[in-house]
Amino acid sequence: MAGLILAIETSCDDTCAAVLDGPRILANTISSQAAAHARFGGVVPEVASRHHLDLAVPVVEDALAEADATLDEVEAVAVTVGPGLIGALLVGVSTAKALAAPRRLPLVPVDHLQGHVAANFLEPDPLEPPFLCLVASGGHTLLAAVRDHRGHEVLGQTLDDAAGEAFDKVARMLGLGYPGGPAIERLAAEGDADAFQLPVAMSRDPGLDFSFSGLKTALAYLCRDLGVEGVEERRADLAASFQAAAIGQLTAKLDRALRSGEWNAVALGGGVAANGPLREATAAICEKHGVRLKLVALELCTDNAAMIGSAARFAEGRDYPEYLDYDAFPTN
Ligand code: KG4
Ligand code: ZN
Repeated sequence: MAGLILAIETSCDDTCAAVLDGPRILANTISSQAAAHARFGGVVPEVASRHHLDLAVPVVEDALAEADATLDEVEAVAVTVGPGLIGALLVGVSTAKALAAPRRLPLVPVDHLQGHVAANFLEPDPLEPPFLCLVASGGHTLLAAVRDHRGHEVLGQTLDDAAGEAFDKVARMLGLGYPGGPAIERLAAEGDADAFQLPVAMSRDPGLDFSFSGLKTALAYLCRDLGVEGVEERRADLAASFQAAAIGQLTAKLDRALRSGEWNAVALGGGVAANGPLREATAAICEKHGVRLKLVALELCTDNAAMIGSAARFAEGRDYPEYLDYDAFPTN
């Protein structure tokens, strides 16, 4: 077996490595640092970098072992170069260089957001462009026009907080752990989504941009008015009402984008795309418009290296030694 791609992703708090044979995933290893950040209620950049340093090599070794492959079979090393936490990214980029350079392998720098889009190009059942992709993660929320495999055009994006960031911050207000998204989803299942009327921001805005900071602030005021005991009593209702408003905004913008009639297929990406009610609400919108909905497995929604390897298949690699001074970038 030759021609494999080894991919590395360390943009936030997950240390990830994957081995790909074309669109086929041979290994997709993720070492979550969530426990290390939970007591801080969010990701501490310096803590993330230090954990990546400890975990990067073992995670790469695990991925190769799971793929039953050796470095000799690797044709290119792909790595996330941004956007993300700069210290965290640098650990991945340095690891990738250290693996590629002695073997004179090409290095493929990958944009993290294109990675989320490219998760849809993987087997099983790869989605071919063109399609509309809603990416909602802890750092980004955007609607992407995907017209070919190499990139995407941003049609609209959040003007302030990302959707996942809002889930994480509201989870913190409700005394739930980090990451907040899965905790809110679980709690919301026991609550009444109509209990509190929360604003669905940007719903009258004619464009495709998003905004989540107002919703977060509305929750903060509600919690203040309810007091500690009130919040404790109504936690499930608060989680359900917040989740409904957040999903309402995401699907309203998707609905608006589909009205152009340009798209025959929709895909979801990013950690928030793992949310069950969002997946169901998106399915309903797609059915209404008569377009196909592609939903990748949950482990391909949240950060992973298989999606980085997938994007690398269509990106330009850098030859040795050109990439030795290649740097990571924190934001676009
Ligand atoms: O894509 P991702 O793993 O990392 C970034 O690129 O940011 O997304 C992580 C985000 C976190 O904010 C997390 O709370 C959210 O995705 N998330 C969810 C769910 N699972 C993860 N949000 C809502 N519902 C979920 N089930
Ligand atoms: Zn991500």
